[in-house]
Parts: sequence; structure tokens; C-alpha cells
Amino acid sequence: MCGIVGYIGKASAKPILLNALSTLEYRGYDSCGIAIRNDSIDIYKDIVRVEVMQKESPTLNGTTGIGHTRWATHGEPSSTNSHPHTDCSGKFAVVHNGIISNFQKLRQQLIAEGHVFTSETDSEVIPHMIEKYYDGVLEEAVQAALDEIEGSYAIAVLTADEDILIAARKDSPLIIGVGDGEMFIASDVPAVLDYTDRVIYLEDRDLAVITKDSFKITSDGTEIKRAEHRATWSKEDVQKAGYEHFMLKEINEQPRVIQNTIGDYLVSGEPSSDAEFKFDEELRDLSIVACGTSYHAGLVGKYIIEELHGIPVRVDLASEFNHGRRMIPTSMAIAITQSGETADVLSTLKRFREESVRTVAITNVPGSSASRVANDTIYTKAGPEVSVAATKSFIAQLISLYQFTLSCPGLHRGIRESLLAELRQMPNKIEQVLDGACRIVNVAKFLAKHDNVFFIGRGINHPIALEGALKLKEISYIHAEGYAAGELKHGSIALLQENTPIIAIVANDNTRDAMISSINQAKARSAPVIALADEDDEDIGSLVDYVIRLPRTGNMFTPVTNAVALQLLAYHTAKHRGCPIDFPRNLAKSVTVE
Ligand code: M6R
Repeated sequence: MCGIVGYIGKASAKPILLNALSTLEYRGYDSCGIAIRNDSIDIYKDIVRVEVMQKESPTLNGTTGIGHTRWATHGEPSSTNSHPHTDCSGKFAVVHNGIISNFQKLRQQLIAEGHVFTSETDSEVIPHMIEKYYDGVLEEAVQAALDEIEGSYAIAVLTADEDILIAARKDSPLIIGVGDGEMFIASDVPAVLDYTDRVIYLEDRDLAVITKDSFKITSDGTEIKRAEHRATWSKEDVQKAGYEHFMLKEINEQPRVIQNTIGDYLVSGEPSSDAEFKFDEELRDLSIVACGTSYHAGLVGKYIIEELHGIPVRVDLASEFNHGRRMIPTSMAIAITQSGETADVLSTLKRFREESVRTVAITNVPGSSASRVANDTIYTKAGPEVSVAATKSFIAQLISLYQFTLSCPGLHRGIRESLLAELRQMPNKIEQVLDGACRIVNVAKFLAKHDNVFFIGRGINHPIALEGALKLKEISYIHAEGYAAGELKHGSIALLQENTPIIAIVANDNTRDAMISSINQAKARSAPVIALADEDDEDIGSLVDYVIRLPRTGNMFTPVTNAVALQLLAYHTAKHRGCPIDFPRNLAKSVTVE
């Protein structure tokens, strides 16, 4: 949930740390801070964005340091609650991502032993515990401290005493970037791409002692080797490429994302030979778990798998699943997670694994925790998604679910071939939606003036109504609710009046008549209606106030075109309202706490 970085080498640490932190801001941006080793440790931290710190922070000399960008969990965003934190002597500085669940107890013990705390954070116990156990060997003191900590952590530790860094992780991601005479620590690969593409993924309970030329990794005290990987993403992937916002860039990348995700499959109709997951089993039943936008992809998945394979698919919010829900026997579980690091999803995956259920992760991040916990992985290949609002990763998840569904044995060949033909059209259909963006801008101007909006959909597009509402509220701060259209009349219709727009997804399938009926009910309560409809739907114009026209698409695939249109609508609405689109308030992209 926070981003951490470390640098040890021959160059000035400060600009490198701040540059690396700027690529991790999607993980949290309530405050940021750095600590640099000189003769002592110099710390600068504040409730500002990294960009401001780059301009305004004082000169800090030194070639070894650590940095942090925070998403507050314990204690409000403030300068004192910002990381790095230190011990009483100021000899150790620590940055932390995760939650220390027994910090109250540890803090009370430390206070009783004379330690003085300055922040409200759980993280501050770590430097004090290191101070408590330090007897000349930093590695041993850090290990002793971690042995007493319960909860999750990724940490980087800096000491004034010697030129080393310590990195350690449990249930929070952490990598080492290997350079030439320099080493990096980071929560995520994009942070080091400006400097190296050589990456080591640390595993749970690993502790690394890092110098500028070497590193040694131990796991519970035993030295261990971890493989070096070449990063598959490039630094261009994490730049805006001339777009005003990452979100707009990422929306526009979607035709290519579809090609990348299933390029080989689109051509041959067979999974590529190097596919990480072979679709070789007839499905009997399936459980899908995910959070947020990924959950909405799961709901679409339920619809298409049940429809095409006639098997029961249960979709759960991972954040609900872990708290007392009975485990219903299932033969396969799919966890959908863009980041592969969402704590709720990882806990659920582990529960399935304990029950010996075959698990498949659909994730976007190579080497992510989900890919290491699950038996198999389907990579969505959307490339790095920087904007907090998920867009291209959602479309890639949908496409992966279509591919999964079409590839599983048991589907009638003719049906499969005709759906495959429609799937092949999708990059082109998305291009057409993107070409129509200027018409969506006008609708966005209208929407931007309102405070409450309903999105309604039916059938396979009900999850898209949920997703459209999530996208709008997340980045424009307009209160929005996604609804199954038929449910409006069971209560929420009481809220409709002339200043409550309805966005109705009018699919040209067996739900159309019922949707028209819902639209008429809304119009009868004076609610303005914006319809998403086929380009050749002639009747809709006279029924509603605005129409967003979309290319005609096979019934199973309308969620894709509708979702892209709603992403554009959310984007332009937020832009009209002057919102910080890529980094909305209170949010972080990767939610590594439960
Ligand atoms: O990385 P994940 O897909 O597991 O993230 C799950 C949600 O936090 C995420 O989809 C969130 O809802 C989106 N940022 C919303 O746009």
C-alpha cells in the first residue's frame, strides 16, 4: 500500500530515490520521505507529493539511502507519521510497507524500556526494536526484530554505522534491482527500470544484506539463492508518452493490449505454445475471487462461463471471503488481480491452496505474489498500469476470461468458432469506440454538473454498470451507483428526479425490451437519461436525452465496448471537474492491507 525504495552505489542517492519514488506513487501519495546516509542519517519527509519534494527538498549528500511514499493506515497523513522512522539514537532509519498487527503490545514494551516514540504509526516500532537488539551486527538485529513482529512487512533499513542496506519482506512485495556497482530496493519493478532491468524477487521471510557490489539473502537465518530475472517491461511503458494523464494513455492502449494478451490465440485459435496455463480440463464448477474492478471482471466471467459451459460459477469479493465464509468445495478457483499483490486476494488464494483446490491467478504483473501462490497463472499482458483507476487491465482481464472460456474443453466447435471470430474483431471495435471519444466529451460536460448518478445494466452488462459507477466515483468524486436495471423500482427509484442522471446500457440482446422499460420508468420521474446503444439502434434517440453510439458487437462481447465508453465518460467528467485523475484522494493502486 506504500512504496519503498533503497539505493546504494556511487551516485548521489537523493535524485535516484526521488525518481524511483515517483514511479511508485500509485501505491500511495499521502506523504513521502527519504533518509540519506552521510556521517549520520539525514531525513527529509513531508505531506507533499514526490514532485514537490524533488523541487523543494534541501541538499542531502550521500550515496546510500532509502525512501517511502505513504498510504496512511495508522495515524493521519502528517509529517511526523511520514516515513522514514528512526530509533531514539537516530542511528537506524526504516521504511515500511504493510501492517504490524501486534504493534501496540511491542510499543508498550518498548516505552516501558525507555524508548520514546514520535509518531502514531505501527511502523515506528521497527527501528526501536532494531536499536534494542543491535549488538554490532545489523543483520542479526533486524532478524531479531522481525522475529517478534506479527503482520505483514516489506522494509528497507539504513544505518549510520556502515555502508549497507537491509531489505526484508513478508506478505508485501519487494525486489532487488542489480546494477553495475550499485543496487536498488523497490516495492515494484518500474521503480528501477531507469537504472537496470536485472531483478531479484524476494520471497516471504527473506532478508537481504546489500552492499553496492553484492547481496546475500537469508531465509529464517539460512543463506539462500534467488534467481535473477530480466524485467519484461521497459521504462517507456511507465511514461505518459505525451498524454495529459496516464489514464487516458492507458485507455488508448487497449486495442494493443488485447492483441498482446491473446495475440497468438487470435490468429490460431489455440493457446500459444509458451502459455503459462494449459486449458486441458473439462470444467465442473468454478469459484472466482477478486476485489474492485477485478471483481467486476469476475462477474462478467461468471456470466460467460455459465452461459457457454452450463456449470455453476460462484464469484466472491475476496475481502468478504476471508472472514468466516464457509469454504464450499470447488474443483478450481480463479483469482483475478491486476497487481497480484492485493492482500485480500492473496489470503483467499492461500485458503484455496490449503484446501487442495487447483488455483489459477489472472494477473498483470510478472513475478507478483499471486503468480507465486497459485498453481497456474494467466498473464494479462496489459503492460504496467500507472493510473490508480484500472482501465486497460480490466479489458485485458475480460479478454483473458473469454480466452479461458473458449479454450476449455466441452464447448461446441461451431459456437467456439463463431465466438472466436467475434473476439478477433475486438481490437478494431475498441478503435472505433476511441474514435468516438469527442462525442463522449459533450456528455461528460453535462454529467460533470451533477452530484448523484445511477448506472443501470442488465445481464452480462450488469457488472459493467457496476464498473462504470466505480470508475466515475473514484476519479470524479461524483456519487454513483451501479444497478441491475430491474432493481431500481424496488427502492432506489425514490431517489430519481430531474437532477439525477441515469446512464443506461442498452444492449441489443434479450434484455433490450426490459431496459427500455427501465428507461421509461426513469423518464417518468424526470431523470435525464444517457444511453449507451448500438450505432444502428434507431429508436433509442427519441427515448433519451443523450446517446453514446457504439459499434455493433456480438452479444457476448458488448461488456468490452461498453466498458471502454464508460472509462472515457469517467475520464472526461473528472477532467471537467478538475480532479487529480491519476491519483484520486484517499486511494492507492495496490491494496496490500486487509
Ligand atoms: O490489483 P487488483 O486487481 O487486485 O486490485 C483490486 C482493486 O483494488 C482495484 O481493481 C480497484 O478497484 C481499481 N483501482 C479501481 O479502478
